[in-house]
Amino acid sequence: MDIKVPDKVKFILKTLNEEGYEAFIVGGCVRDMYRNTLPKDWDITTSAKPLEVKKLFKKTLDTGLQHGTVTVMLDGEGFEVTTYRLDGDYSDHRHPEEVTFTSDLVEDLKRRDFTINAMAYNETTGVVDCFNGLEDLKNGIIRCVGNPEDRFEEDALRMLRAIRFASQFDFVIEENTYKAIKRKAPNLQYISAERIKVEFDKILLSKHPKKLIDAYESGITKVVLPEFDEMMITRQENPNHIYNVGPHTICAIESLDYVLDNSDKIFDKDDILYNIKANEKDRLILKWTLLLHDVAKPLCKTMDDNNIAHFKMHDVVGCKKADEILQRLKSDNYTRNLAILLIKYHDYRFTNKMIPLRRALSKIGTDNIKYLFIIKICDVMAQNPDTHKEKFEDLRVSREKMKIIIDKADCLTVKSLNIKGNDIMNISGKNGREIGECLKFLLEKVIDNPEDNNYDKLEELTREYFKL
Ligand code: CTP
Repeated sequence: MDIKVPDKVKFILKTLNEEGYEAFIVGGCVRDMYRNTLPKDWDITTSAKPLEVKKLFKKTLDTGLQHGTVTVMLDGEGFEVTTYRLDGDYSDHRHPEEVTFTSDLVEDLKRRDFTINAMAYNETTGVVDCFNGLEDLKNGIIRCVGNPEDRFEEDALRMLRAIRFASQFDFVIEENTYKAIKRKAPNLQYISAERIKVEFDKILLSKHPKKLIDAYESGITKVVLPEFDEMMITRQENPNHIYNVGPHTICAIESLDYVLDNSDKIFDKDDILYNIKANEKDRLILKWTLLLHDVAKPLCKTMDDNNIAHFKMHDVVGCKKADEILQRLKSDNYTRNLAILLIKYHDYRFTNKMIPLRRALSKIGTDNIKYLFIIKICDVMAQNPDTHKEKFEDLRVSREKMKIIIDKADCLTVKSLNIKGNDIMNISGKNGREIGECLKFLLEKVIDNPEDNNYDKLEELTREYFKL
């Protein structure tokens, strides 16, 4: 174990011990320490009651006194200290009706979701591991503490958490735990969209998003993302493809990290994708885009006379479906809008002629075009390998042409027209919506003929537009 307990956490444990209370770090941080991964937060569990904890530290916040949680503030950093507790009944599948404090650490550990999350540690006692969490950690197993059905009755989200931990650590779900998920998955309907979205985000950002297939096979997606079930059973039956829509989607998601993390090796130095960086938020948006890029294929599938499947309009219908899904999951607007834009154009065929390329760039935006190419590349990577060479080459040529347009800084937006709304008002005597329409007309002209972006020509075109 290479990870050390930070000094501030040690200080909190020591302060509690010196007053005669037991205190341990507990849950995710113990698991992560034994995985040699730096924990995101350090949760502390103690036999001291919340008011007793508050008395011992200069600055505390009442984070959830009725649930036993006090946040101890040390130099601006907060640490959650929670009293050992038993949970009462969970009539709504997500919150205990009441919690009872206990002086027994084991009782506290018993109420936790998985064995790997039910360990406590301090330097004096070492690890407290009553449910063999360390062994499950070593063997890569997600197993509920005690009876899995009870754990999932208490909080139905735990079923999706099981898939999430399996995706993050490449673990398998133990048989009885898995069987219980199959039985209890319908209870996920009681869980808020926000909590479900957080788990999906973590699955998508993980190294093993293919565990989404377990979410499908165990009946989880049927409740929280039924569109994915349709994707899993839709065959593509087209020479471009070797996978059903669902596995194709997973393969595209898996390709993203590879492309982003190797962009300095995959692309030439003068390619617009060379060394492209995406922060975690954008990476997540790209993964949601890939998850939903073919969401409408099941709806749009038709067969031709040669028994070849076609999916006409799946991009347009896909935008609407993706919009619905992302709204349902309470996604933020930035994510939703960018994902929809990229889904709309994910199948757009660039002609490699300058005018249509400029039009496309104007609609998609110079910043987003790079992400669109990344999406297209991941999409191709999940298609029939026999078609890769030609498709990658086409995309490369399109990027080369796009780069010329970007480097020349051709006018692609109303904002960069060399005439303003006020000028058009003065020339035409019109106002309001008509000015906006005229600006759009001028932009189209300039996209077709970039050299027309000078005031005199734009004035002439304005007169032409208003027939002056
Ligand atoms: N826990 C639980 N049931 C839940 C959520 C949490 O039993 N539905 C317990 C687990 O012991 C878990 C601890 O509370 O380890 C802390 O929960 P949380 O911070 O949500 O998750 P972590 O396990 O810390 O994992 P991560 O930080 O990666 O989300």
